[in-house]
Amino acid sequence: MTTLDLPHLYTGKVRDLYAVGDDYVLMVASDRLSAFDVVMAEPIPHKGRVLTALTDYWVNDFGAGVPRALVSCNPEVIDSYAPGFVDAVHWHGRAMLARRATMLPIECIVRARLAGQAYDEYRDHGTVHGAKMPAGMSLTDAFPEPLFTPSTKAEVGHDLNIDIATAASIVGEEKLDQAMNLCLGLFARASEQMAQVGLVLADTKFELGEVGGELVLCDEVLTPDSSRIWPADQIEAGVTPPAYDKQPFRDWLVTLSWDKTPPPPPVPSDIVDLTSQRYVAAYEAITGRSLDDWYGA
Ligand SMILES: Nc1ncnc2c1ncn2[C@@H]1O[C@H](COP(=O)(O)OP(=O)(O)O)[C@@H](O)[C@H]1O
Ligand SMILES: [Mg+2]
Repeated sequence: MTTLDLPHLYTGKVRDLYAVGDDYVLMVASDRLSAFDVVMAEPIPHKGRVLTALTDYWVNDFGAGVPRALVSCNPEVIDSYAPGFVDAVHWHGRAMLARRATMLPIECIVRARLAGQAYDEYRDHGTVHGAKMPAGMSLTDAFPEPLFTPSTKAEVGHDLNIDIATAASIVGEEKLDQAMNLCLGLFARASEQMAQVGLVLADTKFELGEVGGELVLCDEVLTPDSSRIWPADQIEAGVTPPAYDKQPFRDWLVTLSWDKTPPPPPVPSDIVDLTSQRYVAAYEAITGRSLDDWYGA
């Protein structure tokens, strides 16, 4: 229960989910920062608002033609579904009201560039999520076309990269086709826009769900937490480019001999501040808007 007496449904690494009646959920993005699936003790100021504001930006940018779960982030609109929300000011800007969906049990990842776990698989086997790739690719190289590379959605532990056939056997061929077309289309639109402001969308993870039999875009959309976003002028073949958002944090993390299991190492306040500034800068660069104009400022 909350101050609004909403039934608590789920607490993820970053978000808390509450039921609003039978048909809606309130998704509240916290300022929590996780690394290797371990949540740090120190919150990153503004992070939750950045994640929510970016999701709202993209969903509205895609327009009504793209079915979505998101209803509104506007506190007054949310209040009409969850009375009392206007007074819950600590949630303003970080909460979104969404239609409650039955989530697809896969993560819909799209990759334009070779990076992360996909790079490890390519280096060891010449494949990416089981699909053969051209020989001689370096870290950060572009694939001939963006790839739809799903993974499982693990209840506990790490998600597992899977191939298209395995994903089809989980959700059904028709639904997988729909999901793939939708996600590749959204990826193309977003990467074109990011390119205009000097950013490369290397990969992202979409989550889809079903509402009344319709496949809809859910969860966070194209945020720094769900995407690799690189400054175009800092990409060098074979080298991991600086992450837009978490780089100061990652650079600090690698100086430690932390074994990547709880408890997390205490994050120094200058690293917290730098990381916070990067999240805000990412929002402002991508949207051309000021975070001061977003709810909850
Ligand atoms: N519209 C929706 N209806 C129901 N569940 C949703 C919706 N959108 C997202 N979710 C789920 O809410 C949770 C978001 O919490 P998050 O902190 O991102 O969790 P995780 O650590 O599991 O990624 C995810 O499990 C996601 O699948
Ligand atoms: Mg998530």
